[in-house]
Amino acid sequence: MSVQSAANIAGRDAAITGNLFTLFLWITGFMLLLVVGFLLAAAMRRHRAAADTRPGPAEGPLRVTLIAWSGLIVAGLLLLVTASYLTDRALAKASPDPTAARVEPLRIKVTAQQWWWEIEYADPYPPHRIRTANELVLPVDAPAQVRLESIDVIHSFWVPNLAGKQDLIPGRVNVIRLFPRRVGHYRGQCAEFCGTQHAHMAFDVTVLSRDDFEAWRKRQLRPAAPPSTSLAKAGHDIFMSRQCAMCHAIAGTPAQGQVAPDLTHFASRRTIAAGTAPNNRGYRMAWLADPQKMKPGSNMPYIGLEPTELDALDAYLETLK
Ligand code: CUA
Repeated sequence: MSVQSAANIAGRDAAITGNLFTLFLWITGFMLLLVVGFLLAAAMRRHRAAADTRPGPAEGPLRVTLIAWSGLIVAGLLLLVTASYLTDRALAKASPDPTAARVEPLRIKVTAQQWWWEIEYADPYPPHRIRTANELVLPVDAPAQVRLESIDVIHSFWVPNLAGKQDLIPGRVNVIRLFPRRVGHYRGQCAEFCGTQHAHMAFDVTVLSRDDFEAWRKRQLRPAAPPSTSLAKAGHDIFMSRQCAMCHAIAGTPAQGQVAPDLTHFASRRTIAAGTAPNNRGYRMAWLADPQKMKPGSNMPYIGLEPTELDALDAYLETLK
Protein backbone atom coordinates (compact mmCIF):
# COMPACT_ATOMS: atom_id res chain seq x y z
CA MET A 1 0.00 0.00 0.00
CA SER A 2 1.30 3.43 -0.90
CA VAL A 3 2.64 5.70 1.85
CA GLN A 4 1.61 8.75 -0.14
CA SER A 5 -1.79 8.14 -1.66
CA ALA A 6 -5.28 9.45 -1.02
CA ALA A 7 -6.51 5.98 -2.04
CA ASN A 8 -4.77 4.32 0.92
CA ILE A 9 -7.00 5.89 3.55
CA ALA A 10 -5.62 6.06 7.11
CA GLY A 11 -7.33 9.11 8.60
CA ARG A 12 -10.81 10.43 9.28
CA ASP A 13 -10.75 13.40 6.89
CA ALA A 14 -9.22 11.29 4.12
CA ALA A 15 -12.12 8.84 4.59
CA ILE A 16 -14.68 11.63 4.21
CA THR A 17 -13.17 12.91 0.94
CA GLY A 18 -12.55 9.30 -0.16
CA ASN A 19 -16.30 8.58 0.09
CA LEU A 20 -17.07 11.62 -2.05
CA PHE A 21 -14.55 10.43 -4.64
CA THR A 22 -16.16 6.97 -4.74
CA LEU A 23 -19.62 8.50 -5.24
CA PHE A 24 -18.30 10.72 -8.08
CA LEU A 25 -16.65 7.70 -9.65
CA TRP A 26 -19.85 5.62 -9.61
CA ILE A 27 -22.16 8.35 -10.89
CA THR A 28 -19.85 9.67 -13.61
CA GLY A 29 -18.90 6.10 -14.57
CA PHE A 30 -22.58 5.18 -14.92
CA MET A 31 -23.24 8.26 -17.08
CA LEU A 32 -20.23 7.47 -19.26
CA LEU A 33 -21.49 3.92 -19.81
CA LEU A 34 -24.94 5.28 -20.79
CA VAL A 35 -23.48 7.81 -23.25
CA VAL A 36 -21.19 5.22 -24.86
CA GLY A 37 -24.06 2.69 -24.94
CA PHE A 38 -26.44 5.10 -26.71
CA LEU A 39 -23.68 6.15 -29.11
CA LEU A 40 -22.98 2.55 -30.08
CA ALA A 41 -26.71 1.80 -30.45
CA ALA A 42 -27.16 4.86 -32.68
CA ALA A 43 -24.18 3.92 -34.83
CA MET A 44 -25.46 0.36 -35.29
CA ARG A 45 -28.95 1.59 -36.08
CA ARG A 46 -27.58 4.04 -38.66
CA HIS A 47 -25.63 1.20 -40.22
CA ARG A 48 -28.74 -0.98 -40.49
CA ALA A 49 -30.86 1.96 -41.67
CA ALA A 50 -28.51 2.82 -44.52
CA ALA A 51 -30.19 0.27 -46.79
CA ASP A 52 -33.65 1.02 -45.38
CA THR A 53 -35.87 3.51 -47.23
CA ARG A 54 -38.58 3.84 -44.55
CA PRO A 55 -38.92 7.30 -42.78
CA GLY A 56 -37.04 8.00 -39.51
CA PRO A 57 -38.55 7.74 -35.96
CA ALA A 58 -41.54 9.87 -35.11
CA GLU A 59 -41.17 13.17 -33.15
CA GLY A 60 -43.06 11.83 -30.05
CA PRO A 61 -40.67 9.17 -28.69
CA LEU A 62 -37.64 11.38 -29.42
CA ARG A 63 -39.10 14.17 -27.28
CA VAL A 64 -39.80 11.83 -24.37
CA THR A 65 -36.29 10.40 -24.61
CA LEU A 66 -34.69 13.87 -24.57
CA ILE A 67 -36.74 14.96 -21.53
CA ALA A 68 -35.86 11.75 -19.65
CA TRP A 69 -32.19 12.15 -20.53
CA SER A 70 -32.11 15.80 -19.35
CA GLY A 71 -33.89 14.78 -16.15
CA LEU A 72 -31.30 12.10 -15.49
CA ILE A 73 -28.43 14.58 -15.99
CA VAL A 74 -30.02 17.16 -13.67
CA ALA A 75 -30.68 14.49 -11.01
CA GLY A 76 -27.07 13.24 -11.24
CA LEU A 77 -25.65 16.77 -10.95
CA LEU A 78 -27.94 17.61 -8.01
CA LEU A 79 -26.81 14.47 -6.22
CA LEU A 80 -23.13 15.38 -6.74
CA VAL A 81 -23.66 18.99 -5.59
CA THR A 82 -25.52 17.83 -2.46
CA ALA A 83 -22.82 15.25 -1.68
CA SER A 84 -20.08 17.89 -2.13
CA TYR A 85 -21.89 20.28 0.20
CA LEU A 86 -22.39 17.58 2.87
CA THR A 87 -18.75 16.54 2.60
CA ASP A 88 -17.66 20.13 3.05
CA ARG A 89 -19.85 20.43 6.16
CA ALA A 90 -18.49 17.16 7.56
CA LEU A 91 -14.90 18.34 7.07
CA ALA A 92 -15.65 21.69 8.71
CA LYS A 93 -17.16 19.90 11.70
CA ALA A 94 -14.16 17.60 11.97
CA SER A 95 -11.78 20.55 12.00
CA PRO A 96 -10.69 23.18 14.41
CA ASP A 97 -13.02 23.60 17.30
CA PRO A 98 -11.08 22.37 20.33
CA THR A 99 -13.89 23.31 22.73
CA ALA A 100 -16.32 20.99 20.94
CA ALA A 101 -13.93 18.05 20.90
CA ARG A 102 -14.29 15.51 23.67
CA VAL A 103 -10.59 14.75 23.64
CA GLU A 104 -8.12 17.59 24.00
CA PRO A 105 -6.24 17.54 20.67
CA LEU A 106 -2.50 17.24 20.44
CA ARG A 107 -1.29 20.71 19.43
CA ILE A 108 1.48 20.93 16.89
CA LYS A 109 2.93 23.98 15.19
CA VAL A 110 4.38 23.57 11.71
CA THR A 111 6.45 26.46 10.38
CA ALA A 112 7.29 26.68 6.70
CA GLN A 113 10.97 27.19 5.99
CA GLN A 114 13.15 27.37 2.88
CA TRP A 115 13.26 24.39 2.35
CA TRP A 116 12.18 22.28 5.26
CA TRP A 117 9.37 21.85 7.79
CA GLU A 118 9.92 23.03 11.35
CA ILE A 119 7.72 21.11 13.78
CA GLU A 120 7.04 21.95 17.41
CA TYR A 121 4.78 20.05 19.81
CA ALA A 122 3.11 22.61 22.06
CA ASP A 123 3.20 22.31 25.84
CA PRO A 124 2.42 24.90 28.51
CA TYR A 125 5.73 23.99 30.17
CA PRO A 126 8.45 25.18 27.71
CA PRO A 127 11.04 22.44 28.48
CA HIS A 128 8.40 19.89 27.45
CA ARG A 129 8.06 21.32 23.96
CA ILE A 130 9.47 18.91 21.42
CA ARG A 131 11.16 20.35 18.36
CA THR A 132 11.79 18.23 15.31
CA ALA A 133 12.21 18.77 11.60
CA ASN A 134 10.58 17.07 8.63
CA GLU A 135 9.04 14.36 10.76
CA LEU A 136 5.59 14.26 12.24
CA VAL A 137 4.80 11.58 14.81
CA LEU A 138 1.17 11.13 15.84
CA PRO A 139 -0.78 8.85 18.17
CA VAL A 140 -3.46 6.70 16.53
CA ASP A 141 -7.18 7.43 17.12
CA ALA A 142 -6.49 10.84 18.63
CA PRO A 143 -7.06 14.29 17.13
CA ALA A 144 -4.07 16.48 16.34
CA GLN A 145 -4.53 20.16 15.67
CA VAL A 146 -1.81 21.40 13.36
CA ARG A 147 -1.19 25.14 13.29
CA LEU A 148 0.41 26.18 10.02
CA GLU A 149 2.60 29.28 9.91
CA SER A 150 5.16 30.80 7.60
CA ILE A 151 7.57 33.71 7.54
CA ASP A 152 8.83 33.97 4.00
CA VAL A 153 7.55 31.15 1.81
CA ILE A 154 4.25 29.59 0.79
CA HIS A 155 4.00 25.81 1.07
CA SER A 156 1.01 23.51 1.02
CA PHE A 157 0.89 20.91 3.79
CA TRP A 158 -0.44 17.62 2.49
CA VAL A 159 -0.53 14.13 3.96
CA PRO A 160 -2.87 12.46 1.44
CA ASN A 161 -3.36 9.29 3.50
CA LEU A 162 -4.68 11.34 6.42
CA ALA A 163 -6.42 14.49 5.16
CA GLY A 164 -6.67 17.19 2.49
CA LYS A 165 -4.32 20.10 1.82
CA GLN A 166 -3.84 23.36 3.66
CA ASP A 167 -1.55 26.26 2.77
CA LEU A 168 1.09 27.89 4.96
CA ILE A 169 0.98 31.61 4.17
CA PRO A 170 3.16 34.40 5.63
CA GLY A 171 1.19 36.66 7.96
CA ARG A 172 -1.62 34.16 8.45
CA VAL A 173 -2.35 31.18 10.66
CA ASN A 174 -4.15 28.23 9.11
CA VAL A 175 -5.20 25.14 10.99
CA ILE A 176 -5.66 21.59 9.78
CA ARG A 177 -6.87 18.73 11.92
CA LEU A 178 -5.46 15.24 11.50
CA PHE A 179 -7.17 12.22 12.93
CA PRO A 180 -5.13 9.10 12.11
CA ARG A 181 -7.00 5.81 12.21
CA ARG A 182 -4.24 3.38 11.35
CA VAL A 183 -0.72 2.82 12.71
CA GLY A 184 1.96 3.07 10.02
CA HIS A 185 4.42 5.16 8.06
CA TYR A 186 3.15 7.76 5.62
CA ARG A 187 4.67 10.56 3.59
CA GLY A 188 3.68 14.19 3.43
CA GLN A 189 4.62 16.47 0.58
CA CYS A 190 4.40 20.16 -0.28
CA ALA A 191 1.54 20.38 -2.76
CA GLU A 192 2.14 23.80 -4.26
CA PHE A 193 5.06 25.05 -6.33
CA CYS A 194 7.10 27.18 -3.92
CA GLY A 195 10.50 27.58 -5.53
CA THR A 196 13.67 25.72 -6.45
CA GLN A 197 13.25 23.03 -3.81
CA HIS A 198 9.52 22.32 -4.18
CA ALA A 199 10.21 18.71 -5.15
CA HIS A 200 12.44 18.26 -2.07
CA MET A 201 9.82 19.38 0.45
CA ALA A 202 8.62 16.10 1.88
CA PHE A 203 8.26 14.88 5.45
CA ASP A 204 7.83 11.60 7.21
CA VAL A 205 4.64 10.85 9.07
CA THR A 206 4.59 8.05 11.62
CA VAL A 207 1.40 7.01 13.37
CA LEU A 208 2.08 5.09 16.59
CA SER A 209 -0.06 3.38 19.22
CA ARG A 210 -0.74 5.58 22.26
CA ASP A 211 1.93 3.76 24.32
CA ASP A 212 4.55 3.94 21.58
CA PHE A 213 3.76 7.62 21.11
CA GLU A 214 4.30 8.30 24.83
CA ALA A 215 7.61 6.42 24.68
CA TRP A 216 8.64 8.46 21.62
CA ARG A 217 7.69 11.70 23.42
CA LYS A 218 9.80 10.77 26.45
CA ARG A 219 12.80 9.91 24.24
CA GLN A 220 12.48 13.22 22.40
CA LEU A 221 12.57 15.17 25.68
CA ARG A 222 15.93 13.72 26.64
CA PRO A 223 19.00 15.82 25.79
CA ALA A 224 21.66 14.35 23.54
CA ALA A 225 24.00 11.87 25.22
CA PRO A 226 27.68 12.96 25.22
CA PRO A 227 29.76 11.12 22.60
CA SER A 228 31.72 8.12 23.92
CA THR A 229 34.21 7.22 21.15
CA SER A 230 37.18 9.42 20.30
CA LEU A 231 36.01 9.75 16.69
CA ALA A 232 32.55 10.94 17.77
CA LYS A 233 34.18 13.31 20.28
CA ALA A 234 36.27 14.80 17.46
CA GLY A 235 33.04 15.17 15.45
CA HIS A 236 31.37 16.88 18.40
CA ASP A 237 34.22 19.39 18.57
CA ILE A 238 34.00 20.09 14.85
CA PHE A 239 30.25 20.64 15.17
CA MET A 240 30.69 23.10 18.04
CA SER A 241 33.64 25.01 16.56
CA ARG A 242 32.60 25.30 12.91
CA GLN A 243 29.47 26.93 11.40
CA CYS A 244 27.14 24.02 12.39
CA ALA A 245 26.41 25.24 15.93
CA MET A 246 25.47 28.73 14.75
CA CYS A 247 22.36 27.46 12.94
CA HIS A 248 21.50 24.10 14.55
CA ALA A 249 20.55 23.27 18.12
CA ILE A 250 21.42 20.07 19.98
CA ALA A 251 19.87 19.95 23.46
CA GLY A 252 22.43 19.38 26.20
CA THR A 253 25.27 20.99 24.20
CA PRO A 254 26.37 24.60 23.56
CA ALA A 255 24.80 24.40 20.07
CA GLN A 256 21.62 26.49 20.31
CA GLY A 257 21.11 27.86 16.79
CA GLN A 258 17.45 28.32 15.90
CA VAL A 259 17.42 28.91 12.16
CA ALA A 260 18.03 25.34 10.99
CA PRO A 261 16.61 21.93 12.03
CA ASP A 262 17.04 20.87 15.65
CA LEU A 263 19.42 17.91 15.54
CA THR A 264 19.04 16.55 19.10
CA HIS A 265 17.52 13.29 17.80
CA PHE A 266 18.74 13.52 14.22
CA ALA A 267 19.89 9.89 13.99
CA SER A 268 16.39 8.61 14.74
CA ARG A 269 14.93 10.32 11.64
CA ARG A 270 14.28 8.27 8.54
CA THR A 271 15.32 10.86 5.96
CA ILE A 272 17.59 13.89 5.62
CA ALA A 273 17.07 17.31 4.00
CA ALA A 274 13.24 17.18 4.08
CA GLY A 275 12.82 13.74 2.57
CA THR A 276 15.48 14.30 -0.09
CA ALA A 277 17.48 11.16 0.78
CA PRO A 278 17.42 8.26 3.25
CA ASN A 279 19.26 8.90 6.51
CA ASN A 280 22.26 6.63 6.01
CA ARG A 281 26.00 7.16 6.13
CA GLY A 282 26.50 7.47 2.37
CA TYR A 283 23.88 10.17 1.86
CA ARG A 284 24.82 12.00 5.06
CA MET A 285 28.46 12.22 3.94
CA ALA A 286 27.39 13.48 0.49
CA TRP A 287 25.11 16.06 2.14
CA LEU A 288 27.78 17.30 4.57
CA ALA A 289 30.44 17.40 1.83
CA ASP A 290 28.35 19.57 -0.52
CA PRO A 291 24.76 20.40 0.47
CA GLN A 292 24.20 22.55 -2.61
CA LYS A 293 24.82 19.60 -4.87
CA MET A 294 22.10 17.51 -3.25
CA LYS A 295 19.69 20.38 -2.63
CA PRO A 296 20.54 23.53 -4.62
CA GLY A 297 19.17 26.70 -3.05
CA SER A 298 19.01 25.30 0.48
CA ASN A 299 20.41 27.47 3.28
CA MET A 300 22.87 24.78 4.39
CA PRO A 301 26.24 26.23 3.34
CA TYR A 302 29.29 24.53 1.90
CA ILE A 303 31.65 24.19 4.86
CA GLY A 304 34.72 22.73 3.18
CA LEU A 305 35.41 19.80 5.50
CA GLU A 306 38.37 17.47 5.01
CA PRO A 307 37.51 13.77 4.54
CA THR A 308 38.73 12.95 8.06
CA GLU A 309 36.57 15.77 9.49
CA LEU A 310 33.57 14.50 7.52
CA ASP A 311 34.12 11.05 8.92
CA ALA A 312 34.28 12.34 12.51
CA LEU A 313 31.27 14.66 12.09
CA ASP A 314 29.17 11.83 10.72
CA ALA A 315 30.26 9.56 13.57
CA TYR A 316 29.01 12.21 16.02
CA LEU A 317 25.69 12.75 14.19
CA GLU A 318 25.14 9.01 14.30
CA THR A 319 25.14 9.13 18.12
CA LEU A 320 22.19 11.58 18.17
CA LYS A 321 19.53 8.91 18.60
CU1 CUA B 1 6.79 24.09 -0.69
CU2 CUA B 1 6.27 23.38 -2.82
